[in-house]
Amino acid sequence: MATDIFSPFKLNRYELKNRLGVAPMTRISSPGDSVPRPDVLDFLVTRARNGASVVFSEAIVTDYESAQGYPRQARLTTQRQIDAWRPVTKAIREAGAVSICQMFHCGRMAWPEVNPAGRVIAPSPVAPKQNNPLTGAPYTVPDEMSQFDIDHVISGFAETAMGAMEAGFDGVEVHAAHGYLTSQFLSAYSNQRTDGYGGSLENRFRFAHEVISAVRDLVPEDRILTARISNWGIADMEVPHFGSAEEWQALVRLFSGENLDAISVSTYDFSEKQFANEKTMAQLTREATDLPLMICGKIHDRASAQDALEHADIALSGKSMLLNPNWVADVQSGKVMAPHKAADADIAYSDTPLP
Ligand SMILES: Cc1cc2nc3c(=O)[nH]c(=O)nc-3n(C[C@H](O)[C@H](O)[C@H](O)COP(=O)(O)O)c2cc1C
Repeated sequence: MATDIFSPFKLNRYELKNRLGVAPMTRISSPGDSVPRPDVLDFLVTRARNGASVVFSEAIVTDYESAQGYPRQARLTTQRQIDAWRPVTKAIREAGAVSICQMFHCGRMAWPEVNPAGRVIAPSPVAPKQNNPLTGAPYTVPDEMSQFDIDHVISGFAETAMGAMEAGFDGVEVHAAHGYLTSQFLSAYSNQRTDGYGGSLENRFRFAHEVISAVRDLVPEDRILTARISNWGIADMEVPHFGSAEEWQALVRLFSGENLDAISVSTYDFSEKQFANEKTMAQLTREATDLPLMICGKIHDRASAQDALEHADIALSGKSMLLNPNWVADVQSGKVMAPHKAADADIAYSDTPLP
């Protein structure tokens, strides 16, 4: 039977009022102090007030050494940063929605100019093939992470999770998608290590396991912990990160063995069949886990949300939530809405407050 988009869903102890959430969206709006502009924070509250059941923060950078990949990104480890987010999580809760803080380290996608240590680190010294679209210059060849680097980065995730709890978030998400650091460890394309963090899928998963374990220790059982995964990365988009449906499902089973509350799968288009085997990413993922599943990618109207929920529990939207403050109501009323183009999302980076 088809899932009703406006039926409740239990996620950990939280009763979500419907199946529509705001996908994490970086807004590069935080000046020197890594605190987002007030209107960017208000944007999240407005989406909660207008019916979204889950609201993800933009990806929060996990340390001051090498994590940042874009200018003006947010962090959540100082009292000032925590104080800026606290009223936001409170207002989201008062609106009847759940807030989840996404955390990431950019790894080889980092931009040395915006990191105090001026250093790029990754599982292996393999730079993306394409140039950095922000600078037009080649990406820096990263240093292969030492054990110290690995432990240091994990501490950054843990410290940020602590900040998120202190700021009142209902949960945190480990961003293990889109070719950023955790994703770089998972994929043999970017992880060419020969130690315990490279080689077999189990070894490539080790870093994600250590991050999730360190974070779970600080996120109480009654708050939410999710991981976001994908088969693609922001750089070298044409390169799939996993070789087969079997490898993807083995990866999902490894995530499923962690103490997570949900897995979030990011696609370009939720309806696309993958690995030439006639199944969507949501379908493949669902076959491999009993955990609650979030799906994202070109969900733009009532029909697409309904289809997306055939093999998932929660439908996340990026661009529709970004561009249309009334998207949840418009889905409910069945309003005719076209999918947005990638270029439409540039509005995310404008200084003009979004409605
Ligand atoms: C402006 C913008 C910023 C984004 N930033 C992030 C991010 O910080 N973390 C993340 O996991 N995905 C990020 N994404 C990807 C979205 O979460 C989502 O997966 C993508 O937009 C596809 O969904 P859509 O077709 O509904 O837009 C971003 C997307 C946009 C448009």
